[in-house]
Amino acid sequence: MSNTSVPDIRRPKTRAGARIALVSLTAAALAAGAALTVATSANAGTTLGASAAERGRYFGAAVAANKLSDSAYTTILNREFNSVTPENEMKIDATEPQQGQFNFTNADRIVSHARSRGMQVRGHTLAWHSQQPGWMQNMSGAALRTAMLNHVTQVATHYRGQVVAWDVVNEAFADGNGGARRDSNLQRTGNDWIEAAFRAARAADPAAKLCYNDYNTDNWTWDKTQAVYRMVQDFKQRGVPIDCVGLQSHFNSGSPYPSNYRTTLSSFAALGVDVQITELDIEGSGTTQANTYRNVVNDCLAVARCTGITVWGIRDTDSWRASGTPLLFDGSGNKKPAYDAVLSALNNGAGPNPTTTPPGPNPTTTPPGPNPTTTPPPAGAGCTASVSLNSWSAGFVATVRVTAGSSGTSGWTVSLTLPSGATVTNSWNTSASGTSGAVRFSNATHNGRIAAGQSTEFGFQGTGSASSLTPTCTAS
Ligand code: XIL
Repeated sequence: MSNTSVPDIRRPKTRAGARIALVSLTAAALAAGAALTVATSANAGTTLGASAAERGRYFGAAVAANKLSDSAYTTILNREFNSVTPENEMKIDATEPQQGQFNFTNADRIVSHARSRGMQVRGHTLAWHSQQPGWMQNMSGAALRTAMLNHVTQVATHYRGQVVAWDVVNEAFADGNGGARRDSNLQRTGNDWIEAAFRAARAADPAAKLCYNDYNTDNWTWDKTQAVYRMVQDFKQRGVPIDCVGLQSHFNSGSPYPSNYRTTLSSFAALGVDVQITELDIEGSGTTQANTYRNVVNDCLAVARCTGITVWGIRDTDSWRASGTPLLFDGSGNKKPAYDAVLSALNNGAGPNPTTTPPGPNPTTTPPGPNPTTTPPPAGAGCTASVSLNSWSAGFVATVRVTAGSSGTSGWTVSLTLPSGATVTNSWNTSASGTSGAVRFSNATHNGRIAAGQSTEFGFQGTGSASSLTPTCTAS
């Protein structure tokens, strides 16, 4: 009974004490309940990265190479974040300052800082009208198209295996009504410049997820959002390689957080792409700012394919919009109310099982998704599992999709055998046993129950190499 959950120390020792004890038992039972909640939160993580990982997601920050020598900065970066986006260092002017002469020095510093600490890297960005080097600004037509494709190929090749996702094309649509493409030298090379860039990126790094990234695409009713949506839909229908859509999400009074943001996220996701919040900052302060951050996190958690959030800087003073104090840490590195709101949303936030694919509105295509391993069909009673691997020279991340058969599951276990030399170092949304050889992954408390034909995902990270893994799923 409930008494059994009360610690022994509170049990009545004598009959005389029974009545008092009953009262204290009730209080203790409540306390036990409260303690359970706290314990769950504590397990769920005390940093943004760990808490996001518990929800099968990453939490990243834009990082500037010239701040890596600032220990106050790196202390927060290394403690809180498990994903990094170079703020400027991978842009075209930084990586190809003279045509054909590539410079990866500063970007490499960020990549090695991140990867040596187990953080993933988002690449930003391969093709953009802005921050072009002078030589490219002066180009047009076929010569520019060729130069752009060469740039995409060279940079994506340099970072092959090191960058988990690329913003292949950035900000190619115009603001305002009409949903037109933005005029630029790249756009003037022909409307197909975006898909050409995506194809070049896929050829150069087949394992990286390829994203289209933009701002003012948060409000589902805006023409720009709809125009990007139609482009992604068209790409999926025609087989242009695209895996994700990045919503920059720079919010302020002129471009406020929209109440239909979750609809935007789920609508893009329903096209069969991941959705990532790529450059989040929210101007403001105090509770108002904290509440908006909370809403954004809860919206992401509510959409299974919203795979992570990156804030565009660490401290307010690091922001490109510093006067708007839009970030999670103040200039002295103190956590702001917005930080607490984000952490608690990650740990306790609303939303369905974050890794179960929701029906989503108007799904038009069944997504093969990036790094496709086909999602298995529901397999009678029981379950099936498929593994998608993202490997690099010294390690790998495996994403495992568990699909319930026609009876659904109340729990599941996935077994697989790692090749010799491969070791599991970290896992999420699962309870893992064993780190090498034959290993088993059982459901976490929140994702054991899968409805018939539905799926959930968990993941693990390892050192060594695992070029293919064959999972076996057992349902209970
Ligand atoms: C910004 C950087 O934060 C600044 O340091 C730089 O001066 C200009 O670019 N959208 C993007 C980012 O995709 O690359 C921009 O970053 C912010 C808007």
